[in-house]
Amino acid sequence: MNDRGYIENLYGRRQDKPLRARPARLMQELLPRVAIADPSHGPIAPQALFPGSRDVWLEVGTGGGEHLAWQAGRHPQIGMIGAEPFVNGVAKLLSEIDSKELANIRVHFGDARPLMEALPDASLGRLFVLHPDPWPKRRHFKRRMISPWFFTEAARLLRPGSQLRIASDIPDYIRWTFMHARNAPAFEWTARRRADWEVRPDDWPQTRYEAKALREGRVPAYLTFRRI
Ligand SMILES: C[S@@+](CC[C@H](N)C(=O)[O-])C[C@H]1O[C@@H](n2cnc3c(N)ncnc32)[C@H](O)[C@@H]1O
Repeated sequence: MNDRGYIENLYGRRQDKPLRARPARLMQELLPRVAIADPSHGPIAPQALFPGSRDVWLEVGTGGGEHLAWQAGRHPQIGMIGAEPFVNGVAKLLSEIDSKELANIRVHFGDARPLMEALPDASLGRLFVLHPDPWPKRRHFKRRMISPWFFTEAARLLRPGSQLRIASDIPDYIRWTFMHARNAPAFEWTARRRADWEVRPDDWPQTRYEAKALREGRVPAYLTFRRI
């Protein structure tokens, strides 16, 4: 445990297979143009990243970035920040930015947690954590992104009335999320009936991991919490 209340090395490897030529080029040429300054160098002013934007949303663990790219295309007036430590994921996100010519995405290539800590209070209008790594072994529970630390930071960053969206296809992780949400008085779960968490809302596109979970017979839950 470090002095921020979370352990280091939440994620394992940062790369699996070597990148092909185009993703490698995007990492070299596009990433420097869309990357956010290293949060260890000081606070980050999100509005300065997106001059003229109406709001700023953050996705923690974008994977291949399909969800963030979809949101960015649909909401061009909103600045989107994607945080992802895995090289192959970031390269895919860059490919989405490049091919769809998305001007409203900035990328944090690394752990989302120092980035969150570098953002100012009430600076976000929406926060997404879709299919976070489940870390199924009990001795690894402390590596889970959803944690007391996470809900405290989310409460600090999100403005009242804004949304925190969490998806998981792992029953134990869903229970875990509720367990921590119950101890987070700044959030209320918005669901009124089963369909509210069993059916993916229209403005919530499918991610790669969700598609894989469905293929493998797992049933995702789509949880929306409101910042009180
Ligand atoms: C199971 S994948 C889901 C990816 C994507 N959200 C989706 O639904 O397709 C979890 C992702 O979280 C990322 N991740 C793990 N630890 C993280 C951290 N500390 N900060 C940001 N992302 C993290 C992983 O690299 C991985 O891409």
